[in-house]
Amino acid sequence: MTRLNVNVDHVATVRQARGGIEPDPVLAAYLAELAGAEGIVVHLREDRRHIQERDVWMLRETVKTKLNLEMAPTDPMVKIAADIRPDMATLVPEKRQELTTEGGLDTAGNPKEIKSVVKRLRKEGIFVSLFIDPDPAQIKAAAATGAEMVEIHTGAYADAPDEAGKEAELSRIRKAVGKAYAAGLRVSAGHGLDYFNVVRIAEIEGIEELNIGHSIISRAITAGMDLAVRDMTDLIRAGSLQGPGV
Ligand code: PXP
Repeated sequence: MTRLNVNVDHVATVRQARGGIEPDPVLAAYLAELAGAEGIVVHLREDRRHIQERDVWMLRETVKTKLNLEMAPTDPMVKIAADIRPDMATLVPEKRQELTTEGGLDTAGNPKEIKSVVKRLRKEGIFVSLFIDPDPAQIKAAAATGAEMVEIHTGAYADAPDEAGKEAELSRIRKAVGKAYAAGLRVSAGHGLDYFNVVRIAEIEGIEELNIGHSIISRAITAGMDLAVRDMTDLIRAGSLQGPGV
C-alpha cells in the first residue's frame, strides 16, 4: 500500500502571515498522524518563509511516524540536519524567488556536490532521498550518489494541460520508477498532487509513498470554514445577548 506523508509547510505560511503562534504546524502534524498520515514532511527554507527551526525541533520530539526534512544541499542545512536528526532528509533545489520548489535537483549536473552531501547525511545515520525529475539521466546520477531513495517530481504531470500531456507525463513517471528500482533505489513521488490527480499516481506500482502538502492544507481550510464561522457567530451572538458590561 502506498503511504501518505503530509507536508505541513503551508500551516506555517498562514502563521507567518501574522508572525504569531497559530496555526501551529506541530499541532497540524499531530492531527495529520491521528487521521492516518504515515509521515510528516517540512521544508526548512533558507529564507525561513514558513517552517522555522523551532518547528523542526518540536516535530522531532512529537512526530510518532516519520519526519522527513526537505532541505537544500548546503553546509548550513547539513549542520542543522545533523543536530536535529530527522528520520530522513530529502535534498531539493532551492531558489529564493520561487513560489515553491521548481524542478528537481540537478544531480546529473552536480554529482560531486550532491554525493558529498549525501555522504555527510548518511554518516549521521539519516536516510537520504533526492527529489528529481522523471529523467533517466537524473536517476542514473542519483543512484551513483549513495542515496537510498528518489522522490519523483510529479509537477509536470499535475500541470499538464490536457489528457495527452498527462498520459505522456505518466509514462515518463512509470519508466522512471522502473529505472530507479532497477538501479536499487526506493521510490516516492510528489508535488502538485491533489484530490483529482492522485489516483493515477497511486496506481503506479513501486511508488512507496506520496508527499502531499498544498491540496491537503487547502482542503483543511475550506472544509473547516463552516465550523470556524459557526463558532465565531455563536460567540458573537452570546456576547450581544448578554449586553454591555457583562
Ligand atoms: N515534495 C517536495 C520535494 C516538495 O518540495 C513539495 C513542496 O513543498 C512537495 C512534495 C509537496 O508538494 P505540494 O505542496 O504541491 O503537494
